[in-house]
Amino acid sequence: MTTKTSRISGFHKLLPEQRLAKVAEAVGLEPSAISHLSNTGNLDISVADSMIENVIGTMNIPLGVATNMLVDGEDVLVPMATEESSVVAAVCNAAKQCRSTGGFFTAMSGSQMIAQVQLVGVSNPEFARLQILEHKEKIKALCDETDPVLLKHGGGYRDIEVRILQGRTGPMVITHLIVDTRDAMGANAVNSMAEAVAPFIAQWTGGRTYLRILSNLADHRLARARATWSLEEIGGVDVRDGMLAAYDFADIDPYRAATHNKGVMNGISSVVLATGNDTRAVEAGAHAYAARSGQYRALTQWEVDGQGNLTGTIELPLAVGLIGGATRSHPTAQIALKILGVTTAERLARTIAAVGLAQNFAALKALATTGIQKGHMALHAKNIAVMAGAVGDEVGQVAKELVAAGKVRVDVAESILKGLRD
Ligand code: MEV
Repeated sequence: MTTKTSRISGFHKLLPEQRLAKVAEAVGLEPSAISHLSNTGNLDISVADSMIENVIGTMNIPLGVATNMLVDGEDVLVPMATEESSVVAAVCNAAKQCRSTGGFFTAMSGSQMIAQVQLVGVSNPEFARLQILEHKEKIKALCDETDPVLLKHGGGYRDIEVRILQGRTGPMVITHLIVDTRDAMGANAVNSMAEAVAPFIAQWTGGRTYLRILSNLADHRLARARATWSLEEIGGVDVRDGMLAAYDFADIDPYRAATHNKGVMNGISSVVLATGNDTRAVEAGAHAYAARSGQYRALTQWEVDGQGNLTGTIELPLAVGLIGGATRSHPTAQIALKILGVTTAERLARTIAAVGLAQNFAALKALATTGIQKGHMALHAKNIAVMAGAVGDEVGQVAKELVAAGKVRVDVAESILKGLRD
């Protein structure tokens, strides 16, 4: 019997090992589970403890490297952190197939973030809007004073936009502070600026400010990538047309678009995570951008060029940074950046966009031809073999037989393993 309660007084003040002991006691963890969690691998427990609250351990995710990526004429090795099989292989394959046409060509709209200040309680929102716009210079000064380091690095306030929204609770006047955050993702910088500016907006207009927070729909920070896949590399007109039909489907149907974009994000989130950036921020921005027309649509576009080749494009907000947060504190993220060889947040974002496009190409090609399960199952079979107890060379042998049998299941793997060992 365990004494399970979620009330553990002073839990946050304990050391990680003390917290682990408390949890183990509360839920009856075996000594093997305790020693498993005590091994924090390549992230020191003290670093983990400084990153989030109530730490008891760490969780490792495989880190793979995608090869073959040619981005703006340069070869790049791309570290990807993901628990999903096929994701890294998909990027390698797609990247290989567009090398003959020069690989990926990328661009970025800028490195500006938006912070929103919500003003309510004004009966004349149009009037309030102009009152705010009149104070552009003061707002600029307030923003730039808030982050002199950003200013020193060429960033800082760029502009404001003021929008009027009609809510159920009445009109709101929303000020957007547009701030260049350079190599920082910039959440802390712009949130602080919004908090500094808000009391002045309230004072100028006689209204009341509530929310002061960045928008993850970072549409002043759009990363773009394009590539061409020759008919020969794709495998002919039928495959190409199947891929175009798959794209068409995603662009008109939100049910399909969600899965299409999930595939895009398989690639994007893996690099975002490997570099210690905020996966949820990027995902929220990507999906909001996909819905900007009022309908949720595909994040990529596929067309045919004059020679019949398949051309792909992607454009999405990519708020990632090189400084601050886990990118700075997580040693693996630092090494991932070194592997990538990027020295600016812009270069990182552009590479990530290319990975998203590559991922989508591979998924559409698989879906338009053999289906996704064949490739998936080959890799998944290895996981199943390990789950069945296979070790060393047995893993490959069991996986191969599972795929050949067309039944990638643990019970089948167990019986194959038993046969091998007998
Ligand atoms: C699986 O993680 C991703 C795919 O479903 C993407 C897609 O359907 O385009 C294969």
